[in-house]
Amino acid sequence: MRNLTEENLTDAVLASLAACGDARLKDVMTSLFRHLHAFVREIEPTPEEWFAGIRFLTETGKMCDDKRQEFILLSDTWGVSMLVDAINNRKQAGATESSVLGPFYVDGAPEKNTGADLAPDEGPGVTVRGKVRTPDGRPLANATLDVWQTAPNGLYHMQDAGQDEYHLCGKVRTAADGSYRFRTLKPVSYSIPTDGTVGKWLGWVGRHPYRPAHIHFIVSAPGCRPVVTQLFTEGDAYLESDAVFAVKNSLVVKYEPAGGEWTVDHDFVLEPAVA
Ligand code: BEZ
Ligand code: FE
Repeated sequence: MRNLTEENLTDAVLASLAACGDARLKDVMTSLFRHLHAFVREIEPTPEEWFAGIRFLTETGKMCDDKRQEFILLSDTWGVSMLVDAINNRKQAGATESSVLGPFYVDGAPEKNTGADLAPDEGPGVTVRGKVRTPDGRPLANATLDVWQTAPNGLYHMQDAGQDEYHLCGKVRTAADGSYRFRTLKPVSYSIPTDGTVGKWLGWVGRHPYRPAHIHFIVSAPGCRPVVTQLFTEGDAYLESDAVFAVKNSLVVKYEPAGGEWTVDHDFVLEPAVA
């Protein structure tokens, strides 16, 4: 491995993996080296450009701690999170489609029975209701809908000192007939955080940072494959240009006016767990 040239350097780097005993790691690194070298060959970066890229990734890492994950945000805004999601959630027809988890899920929300109000004394509210069932229509009793969303100021509870922990979050259980119902606030479209490298990058490429209004869910039930998903608001201005590419038609729901508030009817359909 001496006197390597532009022509044979990639082959030498690939050959350096020969002794790797972990077959999956070897496959992953081989593919990564192939694509990364091909990228560099195509782009032909100057040293300054290459260091600018390294500086960008370094700054991204510096933004990360146990409360903030700028790399997840980068993966989300580059469409990689939704691609990984799509590959890992090929569903049978009729099953609820998945969507991106995002960086603002915190496990541990309070357990709630069906009928719970996640926003007592706050409005305007929406009652979300329906069933959790299997693709062949069997109702799923004791299923859990782990719900989270932003407040009307566009911030999640952990982003905002003005909100209680787990504000607008809850683990709602279905009743014996598989039905669920909870009241929350009508969600708003909001900006993903723009004070880090992702915000800078969106600006450089002329993209906006907004997500259409949505409520997040992880729906699970014994014996079924859980689904991580979101319900989007019909008519939202950002449905066609979600900053993280997460909208699917089957997840867009209609808010029907009801007594000064709204109702949304939506069934969640879970596939059987793979044995
Ligand atoms: C969210 O919907 O919470 C979210 C998803 C991806 C990136 C940022 C936020
Ligand atoms: Fe969100």
